[in-house]
Amino acid sequence: MTVFTPGKLLLFGEHAAVFGFPAVGMALSRGLTATLSVPKNSNVAAGDLTIEINNAKAISESMIAQFIAHIKAVAVSYDLPPLVGTLHVTSELPIGSGFGSSAALCTAIARLLAPDSNEVRRTWRIAHELERFFHGTPSGIDTGLTTLGGAQAFRFDNTISDGHHLPTTVAVQLPDCVLTVGSIPRERSTKALVAHVGERRRADPRGVESLLARLGALGKTILPGGGAADRSDATTESNVAAFGKAATDAQAILRELGVSTPQLDEILREGKAAGALGGKLSGAGGGGAFYLVSADEEGSLRVRRAIDPIVADAGGIVFPLATLRR
Ligand code: MEV
Repeated sequence: MTVFTPGKLLLFGEHAAVFGFPAVGMALSRGLTATLSVPKNSNVAAGDLTIEINNAKAISESMIAQFIAHIKAVAVSYDLPPLVGTLHVTSELPIGSGFGSSAALCTAIARLLAPDSNEVRRTWRIAHELERFFHGTPSGIDTGLTTLGGAQAFRFDNTISDGHHLPTTVAVQLPDCVLTVGSIPRERSTKALVAHVGERRRADPRGVESLLARLGALGKTILPGGGAADRSDATTESNVAAFGKAATDAQAILRELGVSTPQLDEILREGKAAGALGGKLSGAGGGGAFYLVSADEEGSLRVRRAIDPIVADAGGIVFPLATLRR
């Protein structure tokens, strides 16, 4: 059985979502394909699973063995038969870059574990439980995007997430614009970055809580009626400008939280100097994914030309326009 799951691009609310504030993101057109092959007449012991990933040299065998043990535990907790055979994973997503490679893998495995489930929130919940392996307290937004697809707004109903409750979602229409999307290698893992924000919050609860609340609120800018999408009284131009400005404001807060890097800041600065209306990191930060907002393809190509050399120098990539689906 073969499944395809998309990667994701968080537009607003990363880190904020871990503490129960809203977020907005979209699925990418590139993603990951997972095929489970069960050899005929195999003498594989019941429950035996091996995983082969095309672009994961950085993932050690012992880590894969631990992940397999976690998959088995999640299958047991959901009363599902174990996965048996070899899971071949081909990913178009740079691993650990903020494009949801681990979330896409978890969604793919959730689909393989419960192929008959036509209840999408159940698949999402299983993927969410699997994702705990990669960082202990996922908010659920990454696996939400890789499971549901499209563009989604997430709400935690203003309660502080305890890590067990998945948010509610609404499919959203994004402002009509073009995003230049890329990533550079990361200096720190999602787990370390989430822990860093948690420490900052413990040291300064009121200050950090207000930054997180502002991060969450900025996502509203691109929701219907929020100032940057689908507003009958707003022009497309003002919608896109509001989106860009909100992205730049969010980036300033993420920098203040200590999850940006000088290289990311430089790429975003150069992109804006080349005409982008704004931009920010996407995902946990520490390097990784980013996006810049332009009104049209021409603008995006100018941005791309300006940032390409810096991104290449840093060992990163900029996606071709066609790989983004809104
Ligand atoms: C990582 O892509 C997004 C974070 O908000 C973590 C999470 O929501 O689980 C940093």
